[in-house]
Amino acid sequence: MSYDEFLADLTQWLRIPSVSADPTRRDQVAEAAAFTAQLFQKAGLNNIAVIADSQDGHPLIYGESLSNPHAPTLLCYGHYDVQPEEPIDLWNTPPFEATQLGEDLFARGAADDKGLALILIKAVERFHRRAEKPPINLKFLFEGEEESGGNHIARYLEANAESLKADAVLLCDTEMFAPGLPTLTIGLRGILYGELTVRTAEGDLHSGVYGGGAPNAILEAAKIIAALKDDEGRINIPEIYAAVQRPSEAELASWDSLPFDEDAWRHQEAKVFALRGEPEYSLLERLWARPTLEIHGIRGGFTGSGSKTVIPAEALVKFSMRLVPGLTPDIAKRALQNAIAELAPAGIDVSLRILHEAESSLIDPSHPLIQTCAAVMTKVFGRPTVFMRSGGSIPIVGLFQDKLGIPSVMPGFGLPDDNLHAPNEKVHLPNIAQGIDAIEAYFLALATGSHTAESKT
Ligand code: BES
Ligand code: MN
Repeated sequence: MSYDEFLADLTQWLRIPSVSADPTRRDQVAEAAAFTAQLFQKAGLNNIAVIADSQDGHPLIYGESLSNPHAPTLLCYGHYDVQPEEPIDLWNTPPFEATQLGEDLFARGAADDKGLALILIKAVERFHRRAEKPPINLKFLFEGEEESGGNHIARYLEANAESLKADAVLLCDTEMFAPGLPTLTIGLRGILYGELTVRTAEGDLHSGVYGGGAPNAILEAAKIIAALKDDEGRINIPEIYAAVQRPSEAELASWDSLPFDEDAWRHQEAKVFALRGEPEYSLLERLWARPTLEIHGIRGGFTGSGSKTVIPAEALVKFSMRLVPGLTPDIAKRALQNAIAELAPAGIDVSLRILHEAESSLIDPSHPLIQTCAAVMTKVFGRPTVFMRSGGSIPIVGLFQDKLGIPSVMPGFGLPDDNLHAPNEKVHLPNIAQGIDAIEAYFLALATGSHTAESKT
């Protein structure tokens, strides 16, 4: 497989706008699923199936290579859906026409997750091209609802726990702590995503005729959400923090030795104009191990050009909380419901709807399959591997832990400035090349290593 061929496959995959959150793009999501199955085929996987959902979810794609009953089994996971491309006018290149500039490839999904997920597929394809079988057992399961909180994969795991049995999950959907620094992610935050609707009247009203007498839905909503956090960025719900289990002293100390420059994070990476968050915790702890509450958007009233004098009767606020060990979706939900019920003014109609939720996850870095991966990464990148947590969420990591009882191995090949979910998302192509080398080497190390004896499959 040449580099050009790799790029051609990725470019073709990226051309399909598989935005799972957008109901008008169901056909494109299905097209990306079919293309994923083709990629599995080309890599030499067997028993490939595009699994349609009995409910309204998007397809899963399964494939396998079970060649060595004495070797361990990895369940390789990836997602072929992407986030919406909006705001489109801030892209320098078309979001669904992959464009190479220097060593970076720009497109929605370039890093999250098509570009990184392709690493797993292409590592398998290497063996196939040499007319070899991968030296360990592989089960591939890709989904198309990761970015929109769908639960097709959760239901599938529940129903097929036995046939999906593996020693660990392997996924490439995370980043390196810094360029060139081999990294394994061992913790992810969970999520609780919701909508708050505030209604103040039967319908919109003339602001001159009714102003002074009528309540304003946007103002009422703004007051509620503003009251949920203090000026430093703390969530004003004590039950949320009471549930949190802090990382161990050893883990916190390991973060202190990571090459982290707060000023560089602030000015070069995040490019934020000010800092927010609990000042008594380090920035890394706030990003990785503290709960958050973020507002994603407010809909309501008049935002068109020109002016319109209206009192909006309804406002909708989209928000999410990130969850950490100890703070389960249930605890967070109850605490939030109580807080909002208390903040809702008399007579104003306030309702809360949860769209989706996922548990946080934490993986024991001493697990032998993690340790082997760390050793391989150290060798391929020529520097000691570091362990990090991430503030992002990958819902299936918690599900695989709960439903199948297996840990996830998460080598990072993305970079902190890949612009995930934002305009100008990109992937650094040399990372993909090194990623394929690392995954191939990992398969070989697991086949020859001491893990064979521990394998349950
Ligand atoms: N790959 C990301 C999560 C991630 C980003 C992990 C950076 C590590 C480093 C994943 O695809 C993602 O974005 N997940 C969503 C999940 C949500 C929509 C349920 C997220 O975190 O917002
Ligand atoms: Mn994502």
